[in-house]
This record gives sequence, C-alpha cells and structure tokens, in this order.
Amino acid sequence: MNFEFYLPVEVIFGTGSLKKVGEIGRRFGYRVLVVTGRRSTKENGAIQTLVDSLKKNGAEEVFIFDQIDPNPTDKVVNLASELVVKEKIDYIVGLGGGSSLDSAKAISIVSSNEGYCWDYVNYPEGPRLIPFLNRPVICIPTTAGTGSEVNRYSVISNPIRKEKMVISHSLNYPKVAIVDPSLTVSMDRRLTAKTGVDALMHALESLTNRLSNQLAEELAIRSIQIIRDWLPVAIEEPENLKARSYMSYAAMLAGIAIDRKRVALIHGMEHPVSAHYPHVAHGDGLAALAVAVMEFNYRGNPEKYALFAELMGYPSHPHMAVKALEDFLQRVGMRLSLKELGVEREKLDRLAEDVYMLSRGLFAINPVEPTPEDVQRLYERSYEGY
Ligand SMILES: [Fe+2]
Repeated sequence: MNFEFYLPVEVIFGTGSLKKVGEIGRRFGYRVLVVTGRRSTKENGAIQTLVDSLKKNGAEEVFIFDQIDPNPTDKVVNLASELVVKEKIDYIVGLGGGSSLDSAKAISIVSSNEGYCWDYVNYPEGPRLIPFLNRPVICIPTTAGTGSEVNRYSVISNPIRKEKMVISHSLNYPKVAIVDPSLTVSMDRRLTAKTGVDALMHALESLTNRLSNQLAEELAIRSIQIIRDWLPVAIEEPENLKARSYMSYAAMLAGIAIDRKRVALIHGMEHPVSAHYPHVAHGDGLAALAVAVMEFNYRGNPEKYALFAELMGYPSHPHMAVKALEDFLQRVGMRLSLKELGVEREKLDRLAEDVYMLSRGLFAINPVEPTPEDVQRLYERSYEGY
C-alpha cells in the first residue's frame, strides 16, 4: 500500500463554531473582506454573527462583498480582487455555499499575484500563470456539499467563453475551515438535496476512479455511508441538527477525498452544462448525468462499484450500483434529465466537444476511458432521462 496525504487546512468543526471566527481571524490581521451571496446569509443572521465576532476580536475594517451568484464568474472574482488590493485587505472570509467559498479562494490568488482570474484556471495544457502568493482565507460553508472548505479547488465560470474551469493549486487551500452545521438548517429541501448529491458524487467519483489512495478511499467510503443514512433525514427534517451535522461531516470528508483523488467524468460532463446554462445548479447537472455515466463506467472498476452498491444497502454486484444510485436519486427527489433542466438537444454536440477540449485530462483516470463519441452518447442518454 502506497499513498500520499497532505492537507494544510485547519478544521474547526461544531455547532456554534461560527462564533470563533474573530478569534481565529485576528491571527491574520485587521482588515477583512467577507465574500458571500446576495441573500441567505443576511436572512439567516449568519453574516451578523460573523461581523460581530470579527469586531469583538479587534477587526478594524470589515468589508462585505455580497455579489456572489451560483456558478460564480471570473469577472466577479476580478472585481473583488481589485477591492482587496485597493483596501489593503489582510485576509478573506468566504461565507456561503460552494460559490462563495470557491470565489473567496480565487480572490486570494488573483489579488496577490499579477494577471486576472482566467489566467489561473487549469486548461488541459495548464494555466497561463502560476501563482506565487496568496492571502489567508477562512472558509465557512453554509451548505453541505461542495467540500471546498478543505480542498485546493475553485470552480469558476467565464460567461463570455461559456467555459467553467477549475483553479487547482496548493496556494488555493484555505488556511482554516470553520464547519458549523447549524448554518445549514436554513437550506430548503431542494437545496439540501442538490448539495447533498454533489457531496455523494465527490465520494462516488473519488472512490471509483483509477487513481489509488487508500486514505482518500476510506474517507469516500465513510462519506457514502453517512449520505445514504442522513441525507434523506436532513431533507425530511430540516431542523434536525444531528442529520445536518452528519451531512456537513460527509461533505467535508468527500471534499478531502477529491483533493487527493480528484473527480471523474460525471463532473467533467457537468461543467459544460452549467457553463452554457448558468441557471443550472451544479448538483442538478450532476444528478441528470450520473446514472448514464455510471452505466458506462461500472465495468471499468467492478470491485469499487460492487462496494458502492453494498454501501448503499444493495447486493454487492457492480451492476447493482446503477440501481442503488437510481433509487437513491429518486428517494431524494433528484431523478432529473438534461431536458428538464432546460438544456437544448441541439447543444449536445457542443457540450461533448467542450468536455474533450477542456476536461480531457479526466479521461485517463475515469473508470473507463471514454472517446469523444462516448461522451456524446452519454449526453444523449441523459437528455430525456429514464
Ligand atoms: Fe462537485
């Protein structure tokens, strides 16, 4: 057994841990930028708790950048980075779902180096620029899905190029993750389900792809078990703090698993969907593609798909993984098709082409290495759904 493991993120997990942010932040300075979405963190009071804690611990200036939308853009990252430079910000706090956390991390890189956000995304040939510096980032998730609080990825969209790409660099880790499950109770059922499915896809794809890392696999396995047991409860009983805690924990474990083992074709095929259709939530796009991709993939790693089936409570056969996934998506109200999400059939060629142009680096680690024609067929299979 050989594996490598490195995770330079301090994790503070627990209900009420948001209040510790000021105490932690004071290590990094006095001028803070908080990166968040437009509404929910104001409505549920999280932003107020955050600002109070920062002020109580000596923060001199707290700037709020609240223009982060789902599928955040390079433009918004550039805009916030200018503010960071202009206001001489010492450190950045990301508060929100994956969009806010990914943006906070990217803003740290872009504001600390030359160039613009798009210079740092990972094309198959590599990024245009390599960062040398960053600013400290504290990530505080308010959903349980992304895992961005514990990994090196930021997923950013470029609406002009219609591309959704990943920044992946060791300077893109947050310094601290504050995971306070009580922040997730205000998520409605739909958001709980789609973010939970994102976490499940991280665990599934990291468990089954061709990279090998025992430690990351253990995390993925545990994450799958927890999501199986607790996502339906979190959806049914939004205030159930035990369910919420387990989901925050599972999302975090899966976020670490993908930091080591990456994702695979389900993510690779989702990114062009939400790049061309920014109204599509990442979790919905994944759910629409997952079954078709798994049908294609399971023969490539029978042992792991049998394990997935077993973890989901089904007989331990590779093909049962597909049934297990279908049933679970059904149970959490996430049996979706690309058509239902508003994707146009005539766009499928372009989506398939984009997977090849932008994400073909994932092909070699996918359980079955796809051809561009396979990808096209999988989009078609996912179009009407089942
Ligand atoms: Fe994801």
